[in-house]
Amino acid sequence: METLQAIFERRSIRKYTGASIEREKLLTLVKAGMAAPSSRDTRHFHFVIIDDGKLIDQLNEGLPYSKMLATARHAIVVVSDLNVAHGGIETDYWAQDCAAASENVLLAAKDLGLGACWTGVHPREERVAFVSQSLGLPLNFRPLCVIAVGMPTGEDKARDKFDPQHVYWNQWGKKE
Ligand SMILES: Cc1cc2nc3c(=O)[nH]c(=O)nc-3n(C[C@H](O)[C@H](O)[C@H](O)COP(=O)(O)O)c2cc1C
Repeated sequence: METLQAIFERRSIRKYTGASIEREKLLTLVKAGMAAPSSRDTRHFHFVIIDDGKLIDQLNEGLPYSKMLATARHAIVVVSDLNVAHGGIETDYWAQDCAAASENVLLAAKDLGLGACWTGVHPREERVAFVSQSLGLPLNFRPLCVIAVGMPTGEDKARDKFDPQHVYWNQWGKKE
């Protein structure tokens, strides 16, 4: 699939068939995540791949707005090693880096014919604590999000989100 096609046709998928996904494909998603840019090339990303149904159900119960996990049946949790990230917890470079990695995962899922949906964790401290405890994350490792991954039913369709009113040339307000 062409890169631009994946970008334009990606959707947050919330309707899944429940089918299982091969570990090799899940690893490809993680490879795409690790290829993301990071501040000072610190590459502090870690990815917890979840294909254990019990753990999926546990995350689903503990996180709000994560109901799609019930049928997605897989997830990738994007985690930062704050000891390694540029600026550590004092800046938000770690979160920007992890967001870039997360978007790569979403686009790679689209390319492979899989569905994915970002589920917010950071900056909600109760969600950070819940996910960290569920996955046994060491101190100073912080999760940004839980990405649901599964086989899409095809009901979530692409849509055009381009808004020319939000585009300017050279100066704010200049339309040409
Ligand atoms: C930081 C962030 C947090 C999000 N958290 C959730 C979430 O907790 N649950 C969910 O279903 N979708 C979540 N989303 C997905 C957005 O709802 C989705 O991207 C938005 O509705 C636009 O739809 P689209 O991705 O299909 O274009 C999140 C997206 C971002 C970037």
